[in-house]
Amino acid sequence: MRVIIEPNYDEVSRWTALYVARKIQEFGPTPDKPFVLGLPTGSTPLGAYEEFVRLHRAGKISFKNVVTFNMDEYVGIDEEHPESYRAFMWRHLFRSIDLPQQNINLLNGNAPDLVAECERYENRIKQVGGIQLFLGGVGPDGHIAFNEPGSSLRSRTRITTLNYDTLVANSRFFDNDVNKVPKRALTVGVGTVADADEVLLMVNGHRKRWALQQIIEAGVSHMCTASMLQLHPNGIIVCDDEATAELKVGTVNYFKSIERDHLAPPEL
Ligand code: GLP
Repeated sequence: MRVIIEPNYDEVSRWTALYVARKIQEFGPTPDKPFVLGLPTGSTPLGAYEEFVRLHRAGKISFKNVVTFNMDEYVGIDEEHPESYRAFMWRHLFRSIDLPQQNINLLNGNAPDLVAECERYENRIKQVGGIQLFLGGVGPDGHIAFNEPGSSLRSRTRITTLNYDTLVANSRFFDNDVNKVPKRALTVGVGTVADADEVLLMVNGHRKRWALQQIIEAGVSHMCTASMLQLHPNGIIVCDDEATAELKVGTVNYFKSIERDHLAPPEL
């Protein structure tokens, strides 16, 4: 696992966006051979999405031959609701880049048969040859997508029930009213994310310090599903100094020293 420690959130976002842009550029995608990118929602990726838009406007990156898969979606929320993950993605990224609409894959939390919808999603990922790079954030308890503590590390796309901590955390988007947060969601599984060729998790802020400590220094555990990154051959964490507050000084120094040459973002 690589751990890139940046001084602040802006640098985490910049490093991540430039890394993804470089990957797409190096791959040289075409309509027959698209670059397949997994995407998260939440406040964490907002800075990276702004950076994608900036790079796109500067002519440095095109999403024309990119296919995207989002991680998750609430069940039973109107797709026009501003907090549906579909609306979130359009607002913060899709409407501002040249990603063709037919290349966007989102879970439909209003599908008449939710189990069939999850199967459809897994099949669609297979059909395009798998995900090359999955971007993600983590919940304060170390969950990835909506794989709450206790989720099988081999889980696939499925319906899940959100735990109380997540409902409280996400209530900030629903008038701070925990009762307004949808109680169920569709989510890719831990196994679905792990199948990607590469997984990059962004972790920032003091609020995530416990999660980061578990992911890096504790063992692999279903109680902190993002710790699956330890078993991934190409896992990268891009975090800020604040999020490292619970890591040992030696751990921070170790990763800073081995990544010294890579701390500057990979310019295009
Ligand atoms: C939700 C999402 C996750 C996200 C997490 C953290 O649970 N399903 O994908 O990583 O929130 O959100 P934030 O980035 O706002 O801290």
